[in-house]
Amino acid sequence: MSLYGIHVFVFALVFLFALSGSFSMPKVVSKSVRENGAKDKTTMSFSWDYLLFVNQWPESFCMYYNASHKHNNNDAQKCIIPTAVSTWTIHGLWPSKVGTEGPSNCNKSWPFQLNEIEDLIPIMNKTWPDLLEGGTYWNLWSHEWCKHGTCAASLPELSGEHKYFQTSLQLKQQIHIDKILSNSGIIPSSTHKYTLEEIEQAVKNGTGGTPILECYQERENSEFRQYIQEIRLCLDKSLKPFDCPKSNQFAHLTSAYDSPCSSKTLIALPAIKSRNKFL
Ligand SMILES: *[C@@H]1O[C@H](CO)[C@@H](O)[C@H](O)[C@H]1NC(C)=O
Ligand SMILES: *[C@@H]1O[C@H](CO)[C@@H](O)[C@H](O)[C@H]1NC(C)=O
Ligand SMILES: *[C@@H]1O[C@H](CO)[C@@H](O)[C@H](O)[C@H]1NC(C)=O
Ligand SMILES: *[C@@H]1O[C@H](CO)[C@@H](O)[C@H](O)[C@H]1NC(C)=O
Repeated sequence: MSLYGIHVFVFALVFLFALSGSFSMPKVVSKSVRENGAKDKTTMSFSWDYLLFVNQWPESFCMYYNASHKHNNNDAQKCIIPTAVSTWTIHGLWPSKVGTEGPSNCNKSWPFQLNEIEDLIPIMNKTWPDLLEGGTYWNLWSHEWCKHGTCAASLPELSGEHKYFQTSLQLKQQIHIDKILSNSGIIPSSTHKYTLEEIEQAVKNGTGGTPILECYQERENSEFRQYIQEIRLCLDKSLKPFDCPKSNQFAHLTSAYDSPCSSKTLIALPAIKSRNKFL
Protein backbone atom coordinates (compact mmCIF):
# COMPACT_ATOMS: atom_id res chain seq x y z
CA MET A 1 0.00 0.00 0.00
CA SER A 2 1.42 3.38 -0.94
CA LEU A 3 1.55 6.18 1.51
CA TYR A 4 -1.22 7.72 -0.49
CA GLY A 5 -3.20 4.50 -0.21
CA ILE A 6 -2.82 4.47 3.59
CA HIS A 7 -3.96 8.02 3.72
CA VAL A 8 -6.99 7.20 1.70
CA PHE A 9 -7.64 4.12 3.86
CA VAL A 10 -7.34 6.09 7.10
CA PHE A 11 -9.41 8.86 5.65
CA ALA A 12 -12.01 6.35 4.59
CA LEU A 13 -12.06 4.83 8.10
CA VAL A 14 -12.39 8.22 9.73
CA PHE A 15 -15.05 9.12 7.22
CA LEU A 16 -16.93 5.92 7.97
CA PHE A 17 -16.67 6.54 11.71
CA ALA A 18 -17.83 10.05 11.26
CA LEU A 19 -20.57 8.85 8.98
CA SER A 20 -21.79 6.16 11.34
CA GLY A 21 -21.43 8.68 14.15
CA SER A 22 -23.27 11.30 12.27
CA PHE A 23 -26.03 8.87 11.52
CA SER A 24 -26.37 7.17 14.87
CA MET A 25 -25.76 10.15 17.11
CA PRO A 26 -28.49 12.36 15.76
CA LYS A 27 -30.80 9.34 15.72
CA VAL A 28 -30.44 8.98 19.51
CA VAL A 29 -30.78 12.68 20.04
CA SER A 30 -33.75 13.05 17.79
CA LYS A 31 -35.45 10.07 19.43
CA SER A 32 -35.14 11.56 22.88
CA VAL A 33 -36.21 14.93 21.60
CA ARG A 34 -39.22 13.35 20.02
CA GLU A 35 -40.06 11.49 23.22
CA ASN A 36 -39.72 14.57 25.35
CA GLY A 37 -41.69 16.46 22.78
CA ALA A 38 -44.41 13.83 22.85
CA LYS A 39 -44.47 13.91 26.64
CA ASP A 40 -44.76 17.68 26.70
CA LYS A 41 -47.44 17.45 24.09
CA THR A 42 -49.58 15.12 26.19
CA THR A 43 -49.58 17.56 29.08
CA MET A 44 -49.65 20.61 26.87
CA SER A 45 -52.58 19.24 24.88
CA PHE A 46 -54.55 19.19 28.16
CA SER A 47 -55.81 15.73 27.42
CA TRP A 48 -58.53 14.90 29.92
CA ASP A 49 -61.92 13.18 29.95
CA TYR A 50 -64.09 14.88 32.52
CA LEU A 51 -64.05 17.39 35.37
CA LEU A 52 -64.14 16.76 39.09
CA PHE A 53 -66.06 19.54 40.78
CA VAL A 54 -64.86 19.25 44.34
CA ASN A 55 -67.05 20.53 47.18
CA GLN A 56 -65.48 20.63 50.61
CA TRP A 57 -67.04 20.41 54.06
CA PRO A 58 -64.92 22.94 55.99
CA GLU A 59 -65.34 21.40 59.46
CA SER A 60 -64.07 18.02 58.30
CA PHE A 61 -61.23 19.60 56.40
CA CYS A 62 -60.07 21.39 59.56
CA MET A 63 -60.43 18.20 61.60
CA TYR A 64 -58.23 16.45 59.06
CA TYR A 65 -55.75 19.31 58.96
CA ASN A 66 -55.51 19.66 62.73
CA ALA A 67 -55.09 15.92 63.23
CA SER A 68 -52.41 15.60 60.59
CA HIS A 69 -50.47 18.57 61.98
CA LYS A 70 -50.87 17.70 65.64
CA HIS A 71 -47.28 16.63 66.15
CA ASN A 72 -45.56 18.55 63.44
CA ASN A 73 -46.80 21.90 62.29
CA ASN A 74 -43.82 23.15 60.32
CA ASP A 75 -45.94 25.29 58.06
CA ALA A 76 -47.31 27.02 61.16
CA GLN A 77 -50.70 27.53 59.58
CA LYS A 78 -54.04 27.43 61.35
CA CYS A 79 -57.20 25.94 59.96
CA ILE A 80 -59.80 28.62 60.56
CA ILE A 81 -63.32 28.75 59.14
CA PRO A 82 -64.22 32.40 58.43
CA THR A 83 -67.46 33.69 59.96
CA ALA A 84 -68.96 34.22 56.51
CA VAL A 85 -68.70 30.50 55.79
CA SER A 86 -71.58 28.35 56.96
CA THR A 87 -71.75 25.57 54.42
CA TRP A 88 -69.92 23.64 51.67
CA THR A 89 -67.12 25.52 49.99
CA ILE A 90 -65.31 24.92 46.71
CA HIS A 91 -62.01 23.12 46.72
CA GLY A 92 -61.52 23.09 42.98
CA LEU A 93 -62.49 22.11 39.46
CA TRP A 94 -60.10 19.45 38.24
CA PRO A 95 -59.62 18.14 34.71
CA SER A 96 -59.43 14.38 35.13
CA LYS A 97 -58.76 11.20 33.23
CA VAL A 98 -60.67 7.96 33.59
CA GLY A 99 -58.68 5.39 35.54
CA THR A 100 -55.92 7.71 36.61
CA GLU A 101 -55.29 11.25 37.74
CA GLY A 102 -55.77 14.19 35.47
CA PRO A 103 -53.03 16.31 34.00
CA SER A 104 -51.65 19.01 36.28
CA ASN A 105 -49.50 22.14 36.01
CA CYS A 106 -50.06 22.25 32.25
CA ASN A 107 -48.74 25.71 31.49
CA LYS A 108 -45.94 27.12 33.60
CA SER A 109 -46.01 30.37 31.65
CA TRP A 110 -49.54 31.14 32.76
CA PRO A 111 -49.20 32.42 36.34
CA PHE A 112 -52.09 33.26 38.63
CA GLN A 113 -52.93 36.96 38.67
CA LEU A 114 -55.22 38.22 41.38
CA ASN A 115 -56.22 41.33 39.44
CA GLU A 116 -57.77 39.18 36.70
CA ILE A 117 -60.50 38.04 39.08
CA GLU A 118 -60.93 41.20 41.11
CA ASP A 119 -64.68 41.30 40.44
CA LEU A 120 -65.06 37.75 41.74
CA ILE A 121 -63.16 38.18 45.00
CA PRO A 122 -66.13 39.12 47.23
CA ILE A 123 -68.02 35.95 46.31
CA MET A 124 -64.88 33.83 46.26
CA ASN A 125 -64.02 34.98 49.76
CA LYS A 126 -67.29 33.37 50.85
CA THR A 127 -67.55 30.32 48.66
CA TRP A 128 -63.93 29.46 47.90
CA PRO A 129 -61.98 30.48 51.00
CA ASP A 130 -58.53 29.26 51.90
CA LEU A 131 -59.14 27.81 55.34
CA LEU A 132 -55.44 27.82 56.15
CA GLU A 133 -54.49 31.03 57.82
CA GLY A 134 -50.91 32.15 57.63
CA GLY A 135 -50.39 32.75 53.94
CA THR A 136 -52.09 35.14 51.59
CA TYR A 137 -55.84 34.77 51.24
CA TRP A 138 -55.51 33.87 47.56
CA ASN A 139 -53.08 30.98 48.16
CA LEU A 140 -55.68 28.35 47.36
CA TRP A 141 -56.87 30.14 44.21
CA SER A 142 -53.33 30.46 42.94
CA HIS A 143 -52.66 26.78 43.65
CA GLU A 144 -55.88 25.62 41.98
CA TRP A 145 -55.26 27.78 38.92
CA CYS A 146 -51.67 26.64 38.40
CA LYS A 147 -52.29 22.97 39.11
CA HIS A 148 -55.71 22.48 37.51
CA GLY A 149 -56.90 25.66 35.81
CA THR A 150 -54.04 25.78 33.31
CA CYS A 151 -55.09 22.30 32.15
CA ALA A 152 -58.73 23.20 31.59
CA ALA A 153 -58.25 25.75 28.83
CA SER A 154 -59.25 23.40 26.01
CA LEU A 155 -62.87 23.97 27.03
CA PRO A 156 -64.08 27.43 25.91
CA GLU A 157 -65.99 28.00 29.17
CA LEU A 158 -62.75 27.47 31.08
CA SER A 159 -60.16 29.03 28.81
CA GLY A 160 -58.44 31.61 30.94
CA GLU A 161 -58.21 32.48 34.59
CA HIS A 162 -61.36 34.58 34.81
CA LYS A 163 -63.47 32.04 32.97
CA TYR A 164 -62.10 29.18 35.01
CA PHE A 165 -63.10 30.80 38.31
CA GLN A 166 -66.33 32.33 37.04
CA THR A 167 -67.57 29.02 35.61
CA SER A 168 -66.67 27.25 38.85
CA LEU A 169 -68.67 29.83 40.82
CA GLN A 170 -71.61 29.37 38.45
CA LEU A 171 -71.50 25.63 39.03
CA LYS A 172 -71.55 26.26 42.76
CA GLN A 173 -74.64 28.45 42.33
CA GLN A 174 -76.39 25.85 40.18
CA ILE A 175 -75.58 22.90 42.39
CA HIS A 176 -76.58 23.56 45.99
CA ILE A 177 -75.04 20.58 47.70
CA ASP A 178 -76.42 21.63 51.09
CA LYS A 179 -80.01 21.86 49.76
CA ILE A 180 -79.63 18.65 47.81
CA LEU A 181 -78.56 16.85 50.97
CA SER A 182 -81.15 18.42 53.26
CA ASN A 183 -83.91 17.56 50.73
CA SER A 184 -83.01 13.97 51.50
CA GLY A 185 -82.82 14.56 55.25
CA ILE A 186 -79.04 14.74 55.41
CA ILE A 187 -78.22 17.64 57.69
CA PRO A 188 -75.17 18.56 59.76
CA SER A 189 -75.36 16.87 63.14
CA SER A 190 -73.11 15.95 66.01
CA THR A 191 -75.09 12.83 66.75
CA HIS A 192 -76.76 11.47 63.64
CA LYS A 193 -74.72 9.70 60.96
CA TYR A 194 -75.51 8.56 57.45
CA THR A 195 -74.74 5.61 55.23
CA LEU A 196 -72.57 6.01 52.16
CA GLU A 197 -75.50 4.91 50.00
CA GLU A 198 -77.83 7.52 51.53
CA ILE A 199 -75.44 10.33 50.66
CA GLU A 200 -74.68 8.97 47.19
CA GLN A 201 -78.38 8.55 46.47
CA ALA A 202 -79.19 12.05 47.66
CA VAL A 203 -76.55 13.57 45.38
CA LYS A 204 -77.60 11.34 42.48
CA ASN A 205 -81.21 12.42 43.01
CA GLY A 206 -80.28 16.07 43.16
CA THR A 207 -77.71 16.30 40.38
CA GLY A 208 -78.20 13.30 38.11
CA GLY A 209 -74.74 11.91 38.86
CA THR A 210 -73.34 9.55 41.47
CA PRO A 211 -70.45 11.35 43.20
CA ILE A 212 -67.18 10.24 44.73
CA LEU A 213 -67.19 10.74 48.50
CA GLU A 214 -63.98 11.45 50.36
CA CYS A 215 -63.79 11.18 54.14
CA TYR A 216 -61.50 12.18 56.94
CA GLN A 217 -61.00 8.87 58.70
CA GLU A 218 -60.00 8.60 62.31
CA ARG A 219 -58.66 5.44 63.89
CA GLU A 220 -58.44 5.38 67.63
CA ASN A 221 -57.70 2.07 69.34
CA SER A 222 -60.35 -0.17 67.87
CA GLU A 223 -62.65 2.67 66.89
CA PHE A 224 -63.01 3.80 63.32
CA ARG A 225 -64.85 7.03 62.59
CA GLN A 226 -65.29 8.91 59.36
CA TYR A 227 -66.41 12.42 58.52
CA ILE A 228 -67.39 13.51 55.06
CA GLN A 229 -64.80 15.90 53.75
CA GLU A 230 -65.47 16.18 50.04
CA ILE A 231 -68.25 15.51 47.58
CA ARG A 232 -66.63 15.21 44.16
CA LEU A 233 -69.04 15.54 41.27
CA CYS A 234 -68.08 14.27 37.85
CA LEU A 235 -69.01 16.65 35.05
CA ASP A 236 -68.84 15.91 31.34
CA LYS A 237 -67.51 18.47 28.88
CA SER A 238 -70.90 20.17 28.69
CA LEU A 239 -70.57 20.61 32.47
CA LYS A 240 -73.39 18.18 33.23
CA PRO A 241 -73.05 15.77 36.18
CA PHE A 242 -72.83 12.09 35.32
CA ASP A 243 -72.09 8.93 37.32
CA CYS A 244 -68.44 9.09 38.34
CA PRO A 245 -66.40 6.36 36.68
CA LYS A 246 -65.73 3.54 39.12
CA SER A 247 -61.99 3.44 39.15
CA ASN A 248 -59.08 2.93 41.42
CA GLN A 249 -58.11 6.53 40.84
CA PHE A 250 -56.80 7.04 44.32
CA ALA A 251 -55.81 3.51 45.19
CA HIS A 252 -52.15 4.37 44.89
CA LEU A 253 -52.41 7.20 47.37
CA THR A 254 -51.98 6.35 50.99
CA SER A 255 -52.27 9.83 52.45
CA ALA A 256 -55.03 10.49 54.94
CA TYR A 257 -56.27 13.20 52.65
CA ASP A 258 -57.44 11.20 49.65
CA SER A 259 -59.54 8.62 51.45
CA PRO A 260 -62.65 7.38 49.74
CA CYS A 261 -65.42 7.00 52.33
CA SER A 262 -65.95 3.43 53.45
CA SER A 263 -69.37 1.82 53.09
CA LYS A 264 -68.71 -0.25 56.22
CA THR A 265 -69.04 2.58 58.72
CA LEU A 266 -71.60 5.35 59.08
CA ILE A 267 -70.51 8.79 57.94
CA ALA A 268 -70.73 11.96 60.02
CA LEU A 269 -71.50 15.42 58.66
CA PRO A 270 -70.26 17.38 61.68
CA ALA A 271 -71.88 20.72 62.42
CA ILE A 272 -69.65 23.71 61.78
CA LYS A 273 -68.72 24.87 65.24
CA SER A 274 -65.20 26.17 64.97
CA ARG A 275 -65.86 29.37 63.07
CA ASN A 276 -63.65 32.29 63.84
CA LYS A 277 -66.03 34.77 65.43
CA PHE A 278 -63.44 37.51 65.40
CA LEU A 279 -62.71 37.77 61.71
C1 LIG B 1 -58.29 23.46 64.28
O1 LIG B 1 -57.29 24.14 64.99
C2 LIG B 1 -57.51 25.54 65.14
C3 LIG B 1 -56.33 26.11 65.87
O2 LIG B 1 -55.15 25.87 65.16
C4 LIG B 1 -58.78 25.76 65.92
O3 LIG B 1 -59.05 27.15 66.03
C5 LIG B 1 -59.94 25.10 65.20
O4 LIG B 1 -61.10 25.21 65.95
C6 LIG B 1 -59.65 23.64 64.96
N1 LIG B 1 -60.72 23.08 64.15
C7 LIG B 1 -61.19 21.85 64.31
C8 LIG B 1 -62.32 21.44 63.42
O5 LIG B 1 -60.75 21.08 65.10
C1 LIG C 1 -49.95 29.10 28.01
O1 LIG C 1 -49.96 30.38 28.59
C2 LIG C 1 -49.76 31.43 27.68
C3 LIG C 1 -49.73 32.78 28.40
O2 LIG C 1 -49.89 33.01 29.49
C4 LIG C 1 -50.85 31.47 26.65
O3 LIG C 1 -50.65 32.55 25.76
C5 LIG C 1 -50.85 30.17 25.90
O4 LIG C 1 -51.94 30.14 25.00
C6 LIG C 1 -50.99 29.01 26.88
N1 LIG C 1 -50.85 27.77 26.17
C7 LIG C 1 -51.85 26.93 26.01
C8 LIG C 1 -51.53 25.73 25.21
O5 LIG C 1 -52.94 27.11 26.51
C1 LIG D 1 -61.32 38.95 50.94
O1 LIG D 1 -60.82 38.36 52.12
C2 LIG D 1 -59.55 38.83 52.52
C3 LIG D 1 -59.08 38.04 53.72
O2 LIG D 1 -60.06 37.88 54.66
C4 LIG D 1 -59.61 40.33 52.79
O3 LIG D 1 -58.34 40.81 53.15
C5 LIG D 1 -60.10 41.02 51.53
O4 LIG D 1 -60.24 42.42 51.78
C6 LIG D 1 -61.41 40.44 51.08
N1 LIG D 1 -61.77 41.09 49.82
C7 LIG D 1 -63.02 41.36 49.46
C8 LIG D 1 -63.20 42.10 48.18
O5 LIG D 1 -63.98 40.97 50.09
C1 LIG E 1 -85.20 13.81 45.38
O1 LIG E 1 -85.15 15.20 45.10
C2 LIG E 1 -86.39 15.89 45.27
C3 LIG E 1 -86.18 17.33 44.89
O2 LIG E 1 -85.44 17.47 43.72
C4 LIG E 1 -86.84 15.78 46.69
O3 LIG E 1 -88.10 16.42 46.86
C5 LIG E 1 -86.94 14.32 47.08
O4 LIG E 1 -87.22 14.22 48.45
C6 LIG E 1 -85.63 13.59 46.81
N1 LIG E 1 -85.79 12.17 47.07
C7 LIG E 1 -84.90 11.47 47.74
C8 LIG E 1 -85.19 10.03 47.94
O5 LIG E 1 -83.88 11.95 48.19
